[in-house]
Amino acid sequence: MIQKICLVIGDPIAQSLSPIMHSAGYKALGIEKEFAFHAARVPAENLKQAIDGMRGLGLRGFACTIPHKVAVIPLLDQISEEASKIGAVNTVVNENGNLVGYNTDYLGITKSIVPHADLVGLKALVLGAGGASRAACFGLTSSGAQVTVANRSIEKGARLAADFGANFIEISALKSLDQFDLILNTTPVGMGNLLEQSPINPALLQPRHIVFDTVYRPKNTALISAALKCGSKIIYGLDMLLHQGLKQFELFTSIPGPETVMRNAIYTASEA
Ligand code: ATR
Repeated sequence: MIQKICLVIGDPIAQSLSPIMHSAGYKALGIEKEFAFHAARVPAENLKQAIDGMRGLGLRGFACTIPHKVAVIPLLDQISEEASKIGAVNTVVNENGNLVGYNTDYLGITKSIVPHADLVGLKALVLGAGGASRAACFGLTSSGAQVTVANRSIEKGARLAADFGANFIEISALKSLDQFDLILNTTPVGMGNLLEQSPINPALLQPRHIVFDTVYRPKNTALISAALKCGSKIIYGLDMLLHQGLKQFELFTSIPGPETVMRNAIYTASEA
């Protein structure tokens, strides 16, 4: 049987949970002989060759992660409206040789929040001003939330906020979180060499806050641990991974992904 091959490409890539998540979905739907999903480490300088390879080999799709989400755009034939507004692509679908770029990260963020809060009128504080923040600002503002961006570098943060009609505050100037319902971290603070650090003063958290950390390794970041201690509602970064992946699954296979199976696969893998 012909396999439709999908890859997640990035550098580093060993830590990616996408192959486990997508493969579990294929198996649950009985399409594992038709679809396969693997990870490939593609350094920044090899991206063009990887995209040429996608065309040459007739691969079905790529999930793109760091450092390719912006650099891939000029190499594609078409970009969705959302990806164009966000300025980043995390999903490439090969439609009979026509490579189409999508962004599903923004859905990963909004769909993770929906079970916890109404997005219309939600007062959201978005920490950081990189690609994940752009996806968050797009998703939240287009769903009717009121967004404030907080960032370390003023220029980058203010520019991003202006792009999406959001407010801006320098992150070190945050002295109270009284005016916010949702605190969303899109910075890498809490992982890697910033492990055990929180992007904001945890003493500012309140039980009525919803605290969402897009960092998912470790699952319990310093910010999430402080939120749990305070009694705030929490949303794990694994939920964002799941929801961006569910949309990606549908773009690759044209079948809705099995949510419970895919959720269990990544939550189990993250405990390992
Ligand atoms: P991505 O595209 O993956 O979202 P990025 O483009 O590297 O990541 O952006 C990371 C964001 O986290 C930036 O907004 C960065 O702040 P600056 O614009 O001031 O660089 C923020 N960030 C990174 N390390 C940080 C730290 N130690 N404290 C506060 N913010 C940090």
